[in-house]
Amino acid sequence: LIKHTISISDFSREDLEYILFEANKMESLTRREKQEILYGRPIASLFFEPSTRTRLSFETAISNLGGRVVGFADANTSSQKKGETLSDTIRMAAGYCDAIVMRHPLEGAARRASEISSVPVINGGDGTNQHPTQTMLDLYTIKKEFGKIDNLKIAMVGDLKYGRTVHSLATALNQFNGIELYFVSPPELKMPSQIVKDSKHTIKELENLEEIIPIVDVIYMTRIQKERFPDPLEYGKVKDSFELKAKMLENAKNEMIIMHPLPRVSEINVDVDETKHARYFEQAANGVPIREALLKILVEGNNGE
Ligand code: CP
Repeated sequence: LIKHTISISDFSREDLEYILFEANKMESLTRREKQEILYGRPIASLFFEPSTRTRLSFETAISNLGGRVVGFADANTSSQKKGETLSDTIRMAAGYCDAIVMRHPLEGAARRASEISSVPVINGGDGTNQHPTQTMLDLYTIKKEFGKIDNLKIAMVGDLKYGRTVHSLATALNQFNGIELYFVSPPELKMPSQIVKDSKHTIKELENLEEIIPIVDVIYMTRIQKERFPDPLEYGKVKDSFELKAKMLENAKNEMIIMHPLPRVSEINVDVDETKHARYFEQAANGVPIREALLKILVEGNNGE
């Protein structure tokens, strides 16, 4: 029984495959059938850090399932502004709602919330640490495209040091077999050594994006995240490290796909959007059935009326 969703490392392959299976089922339900699943249940959506996709897709999922969203998109409108602690905010939301979706700029904030909350907590991103539901929708996108996750060649490109989406994805891929990983970043933004050490897959770390384009099945681009750099000068040095353009894709495999958790800044030129390889908008749309499936599983597991 899954209670909270804090780190992707808490999920077995069986758990992940079950969520992907339920997400696929969600796509075939009618609007009316879905409305029964969370009918009338209040779910808290607490965003202490900006978001477009995670917040909107969770809130869409809640409303598609007949639930009601309670919360804030800007913590400055909450009593945090008056000095209320995260612990007290979570205790309050758990008293009002049947589950809590939260995003917070501090690593470990979601884990702390799960220790306090009497209802399931879902981590919508905690600082540079983890973004488990992003990984679920990433895996769902890959599975839909290739019919499998095993035995693929996957490149992760950009800010691998601070990028929580690539930390979660690289960790989750340990549940699958025969994957070849290519970590492409400037030297300052390499994947944390612990994640490299813990990986069971073959890994090649490199700085040149063009080198891997003809080889891989998936290119997972990420933004160089200005807001994570302690020193703006360090950001200035690496901010333009990569720009994927349509003309660079001539030697790519026919079926290769380009993913990105979004938002993008300049790392994918808009001319890529119209190529057969772009999947980042479909990937973002997959956030709705995945989050519907997860909410269904978590709330059904705690099924008080
Ligand atoms: N992918 C993602 O987490 O996007 P947002 O920051 O817009 O939620």
